[in-house]
Amino acid sequence: MVSIPNALERLVVSLEQAAGLDRLGEAARPLTDAVGPGKAKDLLSGTAVGHPAHPLLVTVPIGAFASALALDLSEIDPKASRRLIGLGLLASVPTIATGLSDWGDTEGAERRVGIAHALSNSAAIGLLGASWLARRAGGSGRALAWAGFAVLGVGGWLGGHLAYALGVGVDTTAFTGPPQEWTDACAESDLSAEKPVAVNVADMSVLLVRQQAGVSALADRCTHRGGPLHEGTVVDGCIQCPWHASRFDLRDGSVTRGPATRPQPVLQARVIDGRVQVRRQETHALRNNPVP
Ligand code: FES
Repeated sequence: MVSIPNALERLVVSLEQAAGLDRLGEAARPLTDAVGPGKAKDLLSGTAVGHPAHPLLVTVPIGAFASALALDLSEIDPKASRRLIGLGLLASVPTIATGLSDWGDTEGAERRVGIAHALSNSAAIGLLGASWLARRAGGSGRALAWAGFAVLGVGGWLGGHLAYALGVGVDTTAFTGPPQEWTDACAESDLSAEKPVAVNVADMSVLLVRQQAGVSALADRCTHRGGPLHEGTVVDGCIQCPWHASRFDLRDGSVTRGPATRPQPVLQARVIDGRVQVRRQETHALRNNPVP
């Protein structure tokens, strides 16, 4: 007998491989591309709060819808249930906008699962909207609300798969373990001013940039979706990611422009006898399960 986790896994893997969804993804691309790098994109991404905004916002509609159903069961105040559903519907607008923005930065399997996540949540919102209308017209609307909440559960499961299985929204350097001791990276003469270079140090790809103030060393894998920063460009003392144009300050790795929300890990760098050496910053020492 197939267990529920195995059946769900099979289902989601077939979704990840459903190339037929790509056409839908391409049709929606102009919508997401309409918001380019800048303040609006940062707002939708959650850059200012240091974590993706979408998971934060979903709590409002889900909480409002769940509270409405609980009130329905208690039969205390039908009007309050309708208002809570209305609140959930209103709160869905910014929630959808942030989700759409995050989805715009995905590719392949993540993008396909993201489409299924959006479609099920849209169906849920439709059912809950119909429930609100039915209640306003004097009907009960309860069956519609329960159906909507059940479909919302499917969307929520797919959202969980996106974050916890496919790593969308996760800092891609979370398990990065730079060397603890000073480690040879390259000859100083290998570095030209303002030209990003990637070197392999203790199995970790490290970005090196020589500037007037010295050599900067950062994790080369972009914290946003893992773009190779050494293929990016140096702009005003920042490295700009080649994939979605996030910018990180070369001095301290801080995000100066999203969609990234997490700073880029910085390594200490020094030059001894013409050789560049790097080691991890102590602030990075508390991470669990470093890789390698
Ligand atoms: S991978 Fe998205 S900005 Fe770097």
